[in-house]
Amino acid sequence: MKVTVVGAGAVGASCAEYIAIKDFASEVVILDIKEGFAEGKAMDLMQTASLNSFDTKITGSTNDYSKTANSDVCVITSGIPRKPGMTREELIGINAGIVKQVTENLLEHSPNTIIIVVSNPMDTMTYLVHQTSGISKNRIIGMGGALDSARFKYRLAEALDCPISDIDGMVIGGHSDTGMVPLIDKATRNGIPVKNFISEERANQVIEDTKVGGATLTKLLGTSAWYAPGAAVSAMVQAIACDSKKMFPCSALLEGEFGLNDISIGVPCLIGKNGIEQIVEIELSDAEKAKISESAEGVKKTNGLLN
Ligand code: 2OP
Repeated sequence: MKVTVVGAGAVGASCAEYIAIKDFASEVVILDIKEGFAEGKAMDLMQTASLNSFDTKITGSTNDYSKTANSDVCVITSGIPRKPGMTREELIGINAGIVKQVTENLLEHSPNTIIIVVSNPMDTMTYLVHQTSGISKNRIIGMGGALDSARFKYRLAEALDCPISDIDGMVIGGHSDTGMVPLIDKATRNGIPVKNFISEERANQVIEDTKVGGATLTKLLGTSAWYAPGAAVSAMVQAIACDSKKMFPCSALLEGEFGLNDISIGVPCLIGKNGIEQIVEIELSDAEKAKISESAEGVKKTNGLLN
């Protein structure tokens, strides 16, 4: 499997590193516009190969998309990350133009690729890729929910004071500080609903901490997070490579599912060799339905900023 990662910044490099370490891809190409930057990151990563025992070949390219030709999966991380106090939506003015151009460049050399969108505001950027590319909707996957769910599980394990491996939980809705929908009533510890272990008040705190998980890290780091985003992307790419039909909440173009149309937003998806193999319309409570509808209104408002 050949994977291209556009953007050699912290998120892109983490994506490339985790994909390489999992060793399911034959080749990872990192591309950036900054002279020599992607080549440097690739070389540094390749010098970990003997230490981390992987054979994946990582190469870098300064804006030469011919090097990305015939990629099976292309990950778009390019664009500016947010600074402390910024919302993801404030990035749209700059990132929309970048994502549009990157999409066109990638498809010129890899017309059959699956595209994973990471750049923010992610749901709107994913929608833009649908508009720009016109490729089949199953081949465009927005990465947000996998990351938010990982943060949800982290916060639940913290609240329950238990190993994260005991926890299962999912976040759907928009990848935004206000639009996320952590499905607290569906979250479990070894199959037991988490509300058996924590109070309603503590559960609500977990929800709020999850929603601002990205902003919390941006405040601490001075820029967007990169380890967990990179790990989330690598898990999705691995599901494609192995045709796992693994369930992730992903930003997917909806055409009536969950009562929503003409929007890309986080919903449960089965990910396999064709990208989104299936959108899984899980049963939602009235409260969950109301939250996902409210979240969709926020995403559509941001979509409206696309000129
Ligand atoms: C995050 O939440 C970068 O949107 C990404 O960390």
